[in-house]
Amino acid sequence: MEKNIVVGVSGGIAAYKACDVVSKLKKQGFKIDVIMTKNAQEFVSPLTFQTLSNQTVVTDMFETPSDWNVEHIELAKKADVFVIVPATANIIGKIANGIADDMITTTIMATEAKKVIVPAMNTKMYHNPIVQENILKLKRHGYYFIEPVSGLLACGDTGKGKMEDPTVIVEELCLIANQTKEMAGCKVTVTAGATTEDIDPVRYLTNRSTGKMGYAIAEQAILKGATVVLISGKTNLKPPRGLSKFIEVRSAEEMYQEVKREFFDTDILIKAAAVADFTPKVFAKNKIKKQDENLVIDLKRTKDIAFEMGQLKKSNQVMVGFAAETESVLEHAVQKLKKKNLDFIVSNDLTKSGAGFGTDTNIVNFLFPDGEIEKYDLMQKKEVADRILEKAHTILQNRK
Ligand SMILES: Cc1cc2nc3c(=O)[nH]c(=O)nc-3n(C[C@H](O)[C@H](O)[C@H](O)COP(=O)(O)O)c2cc1C
Repeated sequence: MEKNIVVGVSGGIAAYKACDVVSKLKKQGFKIDVIMTKNAQEFVSPLTFQTLSNQTVVTDMFETPSDWNVEHIELAKKADVFVIVPATANIIGKIANGIADDMITTTIMATEAKKVIVPAMNTKMYHNPIVQENILKLKRHGYYFIEPVSGLLACGDTGKGKMEDPTVIVEELCLIANQTKEMAGCKVTVTAGATTEDIDPVRYLTNRSTGKMGYAIAEQAILKGATVVLISGKTNLKPPRGLSKFIEVRSAEEMYQEVKREFFDTDILIKAAAVADFTPKVFAKNKIKKQDENLVIDLKRTKDIAFEMGQLKKSNQVMVGFAAETESVLEHAVQKLKKKNLDFIVSNDLTKSGAGFGTDTNIVNFLFPDGEIEKYDLMQKKEVADRILEKAHTILQNRK
């Protein structure tokens, strides 16, 4: 369903950047209503926002509404997200102190929508303890903040206070608008990507995992409102917005240490990383020289992370593993499921087209300890991620 975003624009120099935010939000398919303060209109004309949003811009609380609805209540009701961009020190102070003397402050007071504040101001204003107290107060009341960044400000000062980039603001707003509470309060730890085992300072062993499956799981878990920790080996992917923690690791040993650290308070652990089974026995400090004879590198076993966590797993924790195989797929998956004390395993056959590494799709089966198998046709990795999370969450809830 089309989502409604009400954009409040207050009187800061960054008001012109709000035009870009509105334009980008519109392109993302949101329905936009804009409210401007009197002072905001000193910086940008309402006509600009009217053209970008295809809606009449509200500028005056006492203007006769276009239909019988009381306009500020109507906008408050229809909003899924109410964002103030840019938010001046003045408007933050008014909202934090219950003042409702213009259309933005009155409407935001009446709304049950998710409320987002995007401050932009001179760095000394931003660091003023009164402004900071107001921000803290609003955060405590559940307001989201898209923090300003450091940089050269329009006034010539340098420091924190510059409005975040419109592209980042829009990404954050998309996430906030689409986020549900299905998995709120649930900590999901996801491992993803390929580990890298160093041979010498220039050479290493790795694998073909791109991390797409794990990253898709982390992204969907964030959208379901979970607290998500992503522990990632090598990938070319951008960590999704809204992660509670992003931990980058190189080797299987580092991955083991980080998973162990996060596991104790994790509700659902999803092990989608391709972790090396073997690592060089010794790391050569200097580059191994070219030689005429063949080179033999001794490899030793790495820690089996899933097995180790399976031993530590408590009854209120759910663990999901992956089995990417090229032969006897189901047999290998069942063995792995049992050995590692998993709650279910997602098996995929790497020889099937559309499954496995690098693709945006996957063909999977879910295997359960009681022998049950759920078979799925080709799906987008995003959909696979959703199914995995739904299943893991149901198992978790049935245990509580
Ligand atoms: C040129 C100029 C630029 C301004 N830029 C900012 C700003 O970036 N952030 C801010 O908090 N106030 C800024 N102000 C001050 C606000 O406009 C002023 O506090 C005003 O009362 C805000 O009104 P409003 O919050 O109702 O829009 C600026 C003022 C002027 C004259």
